[in-house]
Amino acid sequence: MKEIKVNLKNPYSVIVTSTNAQLNFWFEQKKIGKIFIITDERVESIYKDYFKNFENKIIGKYIVKAGEESKRIETILDIYRVLLKYNVDRRCTIIAFGGGVVGDIAGFVASTYKRGTHLVYVPSTIISQTDSSVGGKNGFNLDGIKI
Ligand SMILES: NC(=O)c1ccc[n+]([C@@H]2O[C@H](COP(=O)([O-])OP(=O)(O)OC[C@H]3O[C@@H](n4cnc5c(N)ncnc54)[C@H](O)[C@@H]3O)[C@@H](O)[C@H]2O)c1
Repeated sequence: MKEIKVNLKNPYSVIVTSTNAQLNFWFEQKKIGKIFIITDERVESIYKDYFKNFENKIIGKYIVKAGEESKRIETILDIYRVLLKYNVDRRCTIIAFGGGVVGDIAGFVASTYKRGTHLVYVPSTIISQTDSSVGGKNGFNLDGIKI
């Protein structure tokens, strides 16, 4: 495992690892309590056991349809409703588990729900590992246009 510290005004770490074996250590180190996972159907079907060791931490999970079509305001509004239903508060950490689509949606949700909640990206595509999970950029499409 390699930890790269990004020393911005609000510092964060990028963990480089090929397995989920260090997640436990890292969750402890960062004092991560309850988690809410946002993922997509395909990632969920391939990696359904990825967070198995953390079942006691998981408050809930939201699974979007895989693909660009999901990156829309309606999805985001629906996620807010589910977060409210599960009483997710600002102490909870949202996990974006998937590619750039999931990352952009979950990032937008985390930056706006309750005026900002903790967010961890677990990026599963090359583009999300190299670009969309870095720097906190996020958003959604309107009428098929990236805004
Ligand atoms: N915020 C940013 O700075 C930024 C930068 C670049 C791209 N993006 C956005 O990212 C999106 C593109 O990202 P993407 O290419 O990751 O697309 P994506 O999230 O749609 O993923 C592509 C497909 O790969 C599947 N997938 C994900 N992980 C997988 C895995 N490990 N194994 C098998 N299948 C897997 C997904 O289910 C999906 O069907 C675009 O919406 C783009 O606008 C954002």
